Amino acid sequence: MSYDLIVIGAGPGGYVCAIRAAQLGMKVGVVEKREALGGTCLNIGCIPSKALLHASEMFAEAAHGFEHLGVMVEPKLDLSRMMKHKDETVAANVNGVAFLFKKNKIDWLKGEGRIAAAGQVIVRQADGAATTHEAKHIVIATGSDVARLPGVEIDEKVVVSSTGALVLPAVPKKLLVVGAGVIGLELGSVWRRLGAEVTVVEFLDRILPGMDGEVAKQFQRILEKQGFKFLLGHKVAKVERAGAGARVSVEPAAGGEAKTLDADVVLVAIGRRAYTAGLGLEAVGVAMERGQIVIDDHFATNVKGVYALGDAVRGPMLAHKAEDEGVALAEMLAGQKSHVNYDVIPGVVYTSPEVAVVGKSEEDLKAAGIAYTSGKFPFLANGRARAMRQTEGFVKVLADAKTDRVLGVHIVGFGAGEMIHEAAVLMEFGGSAEDLARTCHAHPTMSEAIKEAAMAVAKRAIHA
Ligand code: FAD
Ligand code: NAI
Repeated sequence: MSYDLIVIGAGPGGYVCAIRAAQLGMKVGVVEKREALGGTCLNIGCIPSKALLHASEMFAEAAHGFEHLGVMVEPKLDLSRMMKHKDETVAANVNGVAFLFKKNKIDWLKGEGRIAAAGQVIVRQADGAATTHEAKHIVIATGSDVARLPGVEIDEKVVVSSTGALVLPAVPKKLLVVGAGVIGLELGSVWRRLGAEVTVVEFLDRILPGMDGEVAKQFQRILEKQGFKFLLGHKVAKVERAGAGARVSVEPAAGGEAKTLDADVVLVAIGRRAYTAGLGLEAVGVAMERGQIVIDDHFATNVKGVYALGDAVRGPMLAHKAEDEGVALAEMLAGQKSHVNYDVIPGVVYTSPEVAVVGKSEEDLKAAGIAYTSGKFPFLANGRARAMRQTEGFVKVLADAKTDRVLGVHIVGFGAGEMIHEAAVLMEFGGSAEDLARTCHAHPTMSEAIKEAAMAVAKRAIHA
């Protein structure tokens, strides 16, 4: 078959690129080796984790939050029902992508794709049969895979990656998480809420590296109140199987005496790496740097007609970043002008409360030597937050000291992941803290805290 575009990988980067290209009139084929479309995100990432985060949050709320509201219940966990909810959510989403492929007349080329030469993709099916397809453009959207701890084997039963942590058959008594990043804290939260004792071992002396330091500090305190234990500035030296569980040897990152921790399950969550195995990139001569495919501002690799996006290239490993790149690339291939604004990509940690950020942190601004002003407002002083007993956290708005342009917004609080988008829209339009402060916000809403934080930039918050 001959295509205008062949995309390798049907994750959020690949499938969105394919749909946009088909909308623009291209004949599109997508190679995907997994049994279902949707990539890491829909099958073993964003969607199943959010299904379990929601369900476990409801369980914890029923156990600890309802009584104060006069709702008397005694929740009982049915883990297999909870897992069924997760599986049904995944199925609905991946089937949705299959429907969109049909609607847009996109061919799913089932199997593993390899680039034989510029303009040529070989697809090897599960039964070993191979077909060759021609394409004007090839997009690599093969995503990422779990980063491994040297010398530690992931069996997905006792020593698990995020994939195994989404299908544990029972609540572990002791869960040891390696890495206080997004996966460690989200999946740690799921199992903590369901009753596991959770200890997080983190190499650095803080959680959530890359996020605003003040946010990380407050958030750590909140998680500790929920029962999380943190061992910061430590690394895992060895993991040995012991009985049905594991014995983990942990030592200070700076060197020093090791200690031993026992765990029923160990979750390795130390990051992800671009996945390009089996694509034949070396043979075709596609340039790589630190495991990632090198691209220019138009997503083009050094080989003519071969492009790459999503987790396989530079930038944050986020589904919405991959999606926006997919749209931009499809539009560029159709001859349109398009771009992704990497300065305004929100990040959300879907814990309770949630953490959401868009733009620069205070550390970023200090490092860049940018003079800024800051306004903060706590949810404790917000009427709606009190009514919902969701008073933990705060909003922080960072604005350019000279122009008042908003450079970053940080929220720790219930619903932060939804609220962050008014800040994102404001920043896309180059808005100021005063613009935000003078925008009428409905009362009583959690979002009023954003307006108040924007007012606090000019030291004129009303309710604090
Ligand atoms: P992927 O989604 O990884 O898709 C790549 C696809 O390519 C895969 O289906 C793979 O099978 C296929 N493939 C690879 N090689 C070949 C080949 N040679 N031939 C055929 N097919 C191939 N991000 C968020 O923004 N929000 C979240 O809440 C979030 N939660 C996450 C939770 C977890 C547990 C994990 C692991 C990740 C999460 N992420 C989240 C990250 C998100 O999943 C990724 O950023 C996103 O999936 C990247 O999209 P992609 O299209 O680049 O690649
Ligand atoms: P991460 O990069 O967010 O965090 C990894 C953590 O492990 C870091 O804090 C790092 O310092 C620590 N670490 C590394 N090596 C270590 C060692 N040997 N011992 C102890 N600690 C060590 O990676 P994570 O959490 O695995 O997530 C991978 C990717 O998936 C992230 O890039 C993230 O963007 C994406 N993701 C996004 C989500 C979201 O948007 N809500 C949810 C889940 C994943």
